[in-house]
Amino acid sequence: MSARELEGKVALVTGGSRGIGKAIATSLAEGGARVAVIARDGARASAAAAELPGTGHAGFSCDVADSAGVQSTLAAVEERIGPVDILVNNAGITRDNLLIRMKDEEFDEVIAANLKGAFNFTRAVARGMMKRRDGSILNITSVVGLIGNAGQANYAASKAGLVGLTKSVARELASRGVRCNAIAPGFITTDMTGDLNEKQVEELRGRIPLGDLGTPADVAGAARFLVGPSARYITGQVLAVDGGMAM
Ligand code: NAI
Repeated sequence: MSARELEGKVALVTGGSRGIGKAIATSLAEGGARVAVIARDGARASAAAAELPGTGHAGFSCDVADSAGVQSTLAAVEERIGPVDILVNNAGITRDNLLIRMKDEEFDEVIAANLKGAFNFTRAVARGMMKRRDGSILNITSVVGLIGNAGQANYAASKAGLVGLTKSVARELASRGVRCNAIAPGFITTDMTGDLNEKQVEELRGRIPLGDLGTPADVAGAARFLVGPSARYITGQVLAVDGGMAM
């Protein structure tokens, strides 16, 4: 990978104010991209954008589940930074519960943020990318979308849905020069996994062939590769970054 292979590109990263999204935003900025950091809390988005290396970044407040809000946020991003060349749908939530106890709201909220949110931003950027015959979309799914997980029927369904979205968008936009791929992280140390106790982490390590949880930087490296020119002939793929959990 050349040092500044994303020079001149504009990237939009949802949920980019912390965790995996922040690591991806940092990695794309290191590659030379100007980055729009999207988070529900605008102050946090702006603070994260200000910490990125280089210049031209900005933070925007948006709930990805709100399709009208997504449209107006994209317009604001394009006016302030420029047309979006790279979209990373990273925003995601969990509302874990056993199936028979799972409430309608727990199911609906997770689908709205994780799956509908990615659809909203993908649809919003697609027209411009197709017109410019250039663009790259990356969805952050999860290993549990591939292999399932007890207590996460809602989350696993949303993440499996993202795999179908990725492949359909890849097929639909390929002839217009737009690529769409996904990364399926395994267990990564972030706020999302911060609630796990030491016993649970030890048990997890036993299920991971490479023997440990991953870091946000592990996901960010794969993301920078997949959205950039080195992956120009790769579309519709789901790359597991999971220490070998799903193979
Ligand atoms: P996190 O909880 O640290 O960060 C998630 C980010 O998404 C936050 O900035 C949050 O504000 C934002 N977000 C959530 N709902 C939103 C909404 N409706 N609108 C706008 N922003 C919203 O989580 P983490 O761990 O960094 O996860 C990032 C992505 O990676 C998520 O999609 C998650 O499902 C996925 N993932 C994480 C794994 C892990 O082990 N941490 C494993 C596999 C996938």
